[in-house]
Amino acid sequence: MATASTTWRSVAASYDKYIRAGGEGPGNYEKRVASWGYDPPFLARCGIEEAADFLSEACGGGCPLRLDEPRPGETVLDLGCGSGHDLVIASRLVGPKGRVYGVDLSPEMVDAARRKLDAYSAQGELLQGAIDDDTLDLPPADVCVSNGVFNLCFDKSKAFATAFRALKPGGRFLLADVCEVPRQANVVAGCVSPDEYARLMSRAGFVDVRVVAITDFWTSDHTRCFEFTARKPPIARRRRWVLELVATIFLLATTVTRFRFRF
Ligand SMILES: C[S@@+](CC[C@H](N)C(=O)[O-])C[C@H]1O[C@@H](n2cnc3c(N)ncnc32)[C@H](O)[C@@H]1O
Repeated sequence: MATASTTWRSVAASYDKYIRAGGEGPGNYEKRVASWGYDPPFLARCGIEEAADFLSEACGGGCPLRLDEPRPGETVLDLGCGSGHDLVIASRLVGPKGRVYGVDLSPEMVDAARRKLDAYSAQGELLQGAIDDDTLDLPPADVCVSNGVFNLCFDKSKAFATAFRALKPGGRFLLADVCEVPRQANVVAGCVSPDEYARLMSRAGFVDVRVVAITDFWTSDHTRCFEFTARKPPIARRRRWVLELVATIFLLATTVTRFRFRF
């Protein structure tokens, strides 16, 4: 029976192999990736001219950074960064005052991401680990992005909890992932419906959960890549409740004290 650690081992091995073979190669851009949202004007705006080479190892399915672009000075965290093209783009968007972090399960993907950041003189820090491991220690981020990763996670609830935990209050979650097309009988291993993703995100604490696009990437007749946006509430509801209680007690206490001194 599959467990978290056997799943992590086999997924990491298959992406180590993918990257060792050079990804999909230079045809990847024309054949697949251009239509996901990485069009030449967008790439040029990020200072990237050589799309075919830059995106030869991309294997996500969408372009989540474009759903709500990171702004100068923000911190971006890419969950399952693969060979790092979204890290380079994020680093161009946040500029010198921003920060970029990437985490991936596959050691060889992490090495490839490091090479890509160096090749494009982009700043970014990398970490090897599983996003559905609740002991993973991540930096606080304004934007959490993920492209084609959650369907591979053994425990999707934990992966959504990781995204929620890593985000600062009010932070944005931008997700592209392969989901089962609704009302299809066949279940494809690892993929669940977009409704189930929305439910898991809400359960993790996210608000304003929306499916904003469906790209033309699929892994079978029964799947499509869906793009979602969601937000961590500005102040966690429970914290706001505690703050309101403290404020009320304080107000009552000062009113009572004033009243006692008057008489
Ligand atoms: C389909 S590729 C997408 C990579 C990259 N986001 C992109 O757009 O090209 C999936 C990536 O997720 C990583 N991955 C799979 N399961 C993971 C997990 N549980 N934790 C962290 N990374 C994971 C894989 O090693 C692989 O690099």
